[in-house]
Amino acid sequence: MTTTPFRDGFAPVTEEITAFDLEVTGRIPAVFNGRFLRNGPNPLSLDDPHASHLFLGEGMVHGVRLRDGRAEWYRNRWVRSADVARRLGEPVRPGPVHAGMDFAPNTHVIGLAGRTFATVEAGALPYELSYELETIGSCDFGGGLPGGFAAHTHADPVTGELHAVAYFFGWDHHQHLVLGPDGTVRQVRDIPIADAPMLHDFALTERFVVLYDLPVTFSMEHAQKGTPLPYAWNEAHGARVGLLPRAGGETRWFDVEPCWVFHTVNAYDDGDEVVVDVIRYPKRFVDARLDAGGAPTLDRWRIDPASGKVSQTRLDDRSQEFPRIDERRTGLPHRYGYTAAARELNDIVSPHDTGLEDLPDEAFDNTLIKHDLVRGTQEARQFGRGAYVGEPVFVPEGEAEDDGYVMTLVNDPDRGAADLVIVSARDFTGEPVATVHLPARVPLGFHGSWIAD
Ligand SMILES: [Fe+2]
Repeated sequence: MTTTPFRDGFAPVTEEITAFDLEVTGRIPAVFNGRFLRNGPNPLSLDDPHASHLFLGEGMVHGVRLRDGRAEWYRNRWVRSADVARRLGEPVRPGPVHAGMDFAPNTHVIGLAGRTFATVEAGALPYELSYELETIGSCDFGGGLPGGFAAHTHADPVTGELHAVAYFFGWDHHQHLVLGPDGTVRQVRDIPIADAPMLHDFALTERFVVLYDLPVTFSMEHAQKGTPLPYAWNEAHGARVGLLPRAGGETRWFDVEPCWVFHTVNAYDDGDEVVVDVIRYPKRFVDARLDAGGAPTLDRWRIDPASGKVSQTRLDDRSQEFPRIDERRTGLPHRYGYTAAARELNDIVSPHDTGLEDLPDEAFDNTLIKHDLVRGTQEARQFGRGAYVGEPVFVPEGEAEDDGYVMTLVNDPDRGAADLVIVSARDFTGEPVATVHLPARVPLGFHGSWIAD
């Protein structure tokens, strides 16, 4: 199948826009003083060979600045890697490059130490952006990064440390990184791992860094064939979850049923056991294809170091992705999780999963889901056809978990443009608190952050 994944919800935009004083329906709460940023792949040209893979489009960051109840601006900007800068006729920004892996990060955008970074995994460095999303340059945190960085990071809400786990096909290890709130690298630890597996996300508890060593590994065969992203399902690799003690010491590994995990919901210590909630696929990257391997479910691993066993429970069998929590609970027991079920994502990632297309719309058609994992219940908020709802980002207000708002980009097919929708987490299916009407379409993308000023 050679159809580009950059179609429908993922169809790229071709212009960079700056717009001021956006129209708002409802009232933006006072807590919103900062920027909502979201990254995603937006190929410069669909004729490029790498535009055949969803993960290889050049990163474009979309941003909305909110302050004093107003939506002050919307901007979208490609991240200027050297290649993107040249193709846009601009000077190349100076900066470090790891192992020749210069790339316009397309996966996440985070705030750290008052700075803004677009991030990606697999060997490339982050790019730093200005407050207004102009590219400053690539960044190795003042020389502190030995290799590349990671798309996903987790901030410890107690210590303020930012954790990441880097991987690279040329390494015989993964690399755990700890950055301080000042944006410097404080700790680097290599964890020996065979076969150069992909690692998209990990988890943090108070005691452990939780590593996934799953059977999707670098494939020299596919690299030699020119497969755009040469990682493939490799049953021979086995599947295990590792507990790396944060205080120091060796990783202890626990076998799990073979599977693939892009994303962590959260993890926490429960007595001597460790609970890890993930979005779990039965398989992925079969023959290096992103779209093969079955639909994902929300599952829980309970790791029991005493018995050496991991038990697995299904928390929700609906196809869903982009899990987020109230990040004040990162690494601590969580009750709530928020996920998105976008039909347009499902159509790209799981098009062959018979049965899903026969489900009624309410099963997964552009729905935000709020999970109460203590009661085992869900609330679903539907946006309808063509809405390609994005990742739900939680913004705290008040003290308790779930006190706050969930915000996400939702396409308005009637306008052909995006809305930034803000709902009260406590009134998840009620009227949105505020809807910011953006002047342009925002393609379905990957991850983002609310970065308070
Ligand atoms: Fe991700």
